[in-house]
Formats: sequence, structure tokens, C-alpha cells
Amino acid sequence: MTGRSAVDRMKTKNFYMVLALAVVSTVSLWILTSTFTSLQTIVTKTHSGIKRASSNMQITVEEALTVDPTYLHSLGLASRDSPDSKAGKGSGSASFMVEIPTQRTTNGTPVIATAAAPDKFGEVASLMKSVHSLLPGYTMVVYDLGLSTADQALLGKHCNSSWNCEVVLFSFEKYPSHVKYLNLRSYRPLCIQETLNKFGAVVWVDDGLYFTSPNLSQVILRAKDSGIQGWPIKDPTSAFTHPKTFEFFHTDQKSYYFQHAVESSHLVLYNSQRLATELMLPWVKCALVEMCISPPGAQDKGCNYFRKPLFRYTGCHRYDMSALNIILGGMFDFEERPYASQDQLFGSLLQDRLRAENKTLPQNQFRMSVGRQLKMR
Ligand SMILES: *[C@@H]1O[C@H](CO)[C@@H](O)[C@H](O)[C@H]1NC(C)=O
Ligand SMILES: *[C@@H]1O[C@H](CO)[C@@H](O)[C@H](O)[C@H]1NC(C)=O
Ligand SMILES: *[C@@H]1O[C@H](CO)[C@@H](O)[C@H](O)[C@H]1NC(C)=O
Repeated sequence: MTGRSAVDRMKTKNFYMVLALAVVSTVSLWILTSTFTSLQTIVTKTHSGIKRASSNMQITVEEALTVDPTYLHSLGLASRDSPDSKAGKGSGSASFMVEIPTQRTTNGTPVIATAAAPDKFGEVASLMKSVHSLLPGYTMVVYDLGLSTADQALLGKHCNSSWNCEVVLFSFEKYPSHVKYLNLRSYRPLCIQETLNKFGAVVWVDDGLYFTSPNLSQVILRAKDSGIQGWPIKDPTSAFTHPKTFEFFHTDQKSYYFQHAVESSHLVLYNSQRLATELMLPWVKCALVEMCISPPGAQDKGCNYFRKPLFRYTGCHRYDMSALNIILGGMFDFEERPYASQDQLFGSLLQDRLRAENKTLPQNQFRMSVGRQLKMR
């Protein structure tokens, strides 16, 4: 009997052990699967997140320069009754066929326009002085980009109706929020278009530059002919343009290896239907789309000037200037002669200062074309 009961006890013990093993393995299996499932969920979620992000990216590039038509209306670059006026984000292709209203044009003298950034009143004063003394017949428009009250008062005193000078407060609130970052220079194409829309022709001059010649007849003649005159530098557009910006214009860096870039700090523009459609519209659109004017990672400092060959990207992006030159390449079929001016009309306060200190202009200063002749091919 004892033997039997011992066997029985063994059996029972075995039974419990098997049961315990089964429970343990079931529990651990359950824990494992649930962990795996949740892991899987996380992976799937992340994956779909990546997928969503990348499809967002694609949409951005595809829709490229789709901007709210309200901005374009107020700038005279879209009809009020254009079919996609309300849609905003309608079909991507519609935005490329914005109906451009008849442009304001002029055969007369252009207005001279500039923008006064905070703490730059001194620079603008030098420019105003040169206009006042050398170009007395011209109207001048000074955009106030947020001057202090004291500087505003000073500006109002210098820039008065006795010599056709007018101060315009730039309405940042009318535009997307990135426009207020002045280093992106989005305001420049916008000010230029506002002036063209109002006066038909403009000589844009940045603060820091001033006129050295009273004779604009040559550059005006050429601007009336081609629509725009700019001053080229020796570096190619490919060297100063973030690769992403090219995508917005459906082109690539390679095409711009040998195009001399013109600066956007001083330009002469005469409005026409062609200029509005082919140059100002895409330029303004790019200025209004932050991803275009300033793609993620774009910066204007820390340029690599010792790169070889010269056409490689320096790592420095020139925002509105980069966009302008991409557009010029397409508009003039990479022929620079129609829009590249050789006239020496401007001086630069920075160059003057460096000259006085017997220094040459450092490589990383960009106003290289001012007062320097560039040999054309
Ligand atoms: C108008 O501007 C000119 C040139 O800056 C200046 O000489 C003149 O005093 C100003 N006139 C008034 C009334 O402020
Ligand atoms: C201005 O310059 C052009 C040449 O660039 C010359 O033909 C013209 O006579 C000049 N006009 C004046 C008023 O000096
Ligand atoms: C610059 O060089 C000139 C002569 O080349 C000299 O007369 C002048 O004093 C120098 N100026 C400075 C600030 O060193």
C-alpha cells in the first residue's frame, strides 16, 4: 500500500509540476506575444509616420509654389476673379496658370526704392543723400521694416515731399510669418513687386549702397528692353543655392554651374506682362513659401570658399538672390547679356570703410560686384 501511495504521490507531484510548467509557459508566452504585438504596433506606427512624412514632402515639392492667391491679388499678380481664387490649395497645376492682370507699366523714369531695417538708419541716410544730390528728378520710396520710433522720426524728417521722398510702412501682417525674418530677404521681392505694381518701374537699392553717378540713361534703356538689369558677380548660382530650391523650379544645380549670379541688392526693373509672368510671379511665390526661399538646413554663414571646383555648393544659401538667378536662367535661356549691366553706378559703404583701413574686401562679403568690372564672355 505504501508503495502505491508513494507512486500516487509521485504522480500527483508530477501532475502539479506539469500544471505549473504549463501555467508558466502560457504566461510567459502571453507576455512575449503581447510585447511583440505592442512592439509591432510601435514599428507600424513609426513606419506609417515615416510614410506620411515622406508623402507630405512629396506634396510640398509637387505643389511647389502654390500660395494663397490673396497674397498675389494684393500684389497685382492674380486676377480677383481667377477660378481658384477661393480654393487656395486646389489642384496643384491651377496655381501655375494664375491669370495675371494687365500690368502697370511706364515709359518714364523709375522710382528709387529701398528698405530701412532696424538699426540701419545711417546707411539709408547715405543713400538718400546720394539720391537727393545726384538724382533730384527721381521719386524715392523708403520701406520701413520696423524702425525704432526715434529712427522713424529722423527718417520722416529726411525723407519728405520737398524732394518726392515717401516712407511706406511695410505691412508684415499682410504676409506669411517667415517674411518678418529679415535675413531671409523675403521682403525684397515683395517690396519690389509692390513698387512695380504702383509705379511700373523701380531701381531697387539696398541700405549700405549709394549712387555715385547721375547718369542712369544707359541702364534704364537696357532695362526697358529686357525688363531687368542686374550686376553679376564672378561666382556661379550653383555655388550659392541650396539644392532644394532648384526643385521648386523643376530644375537642377548642374544647369547653373556656369551662370554668373547677379546680386539682388541692386536691380533695375521695368514692368511688362512678360516680366510679371516669367519673373516677378515665380520670384514672389518663392518668397512667400518658406520651404522655397529657405529650405530646411539653408544658412548664409560658414561658407566654404576654398571648395574646388568653383561651381560646387559653398554651403551658403542666398535666399531671394538664389531664387532670382534660377528664374533668370530659365527666362533668358542662360544668356546673361540681356540683363547683366556693366555700368558703375553704385558705391558701397562697406568697401569704403575697408579701403580706408587698407583692407581688401574679405571673401565672405558678398557685395563683390559693386564698383568692380566683370569681364563678360
Ligand atoms: C526735407 O528733406 C531735406 C533733405 O533731406 C532736408 O534738407 C529738409 O530740411 C527737409 N524738410 C523738412 C521740412 O524737414
Ligand atoms: C549718360 O551716359 C551715356 C553713355 O553711357 C551718354 O551717351 C550720355 O550722353 C550721358 N548723359 C549725360 C546727361 O551725361
Ligand atoms: C593706407 O595706406 C596709405 C598708403 O598706401 C597710407 O598713406 C595710409 O596712412 C594707410 N591708412 C591706414 C589707416 O593705415
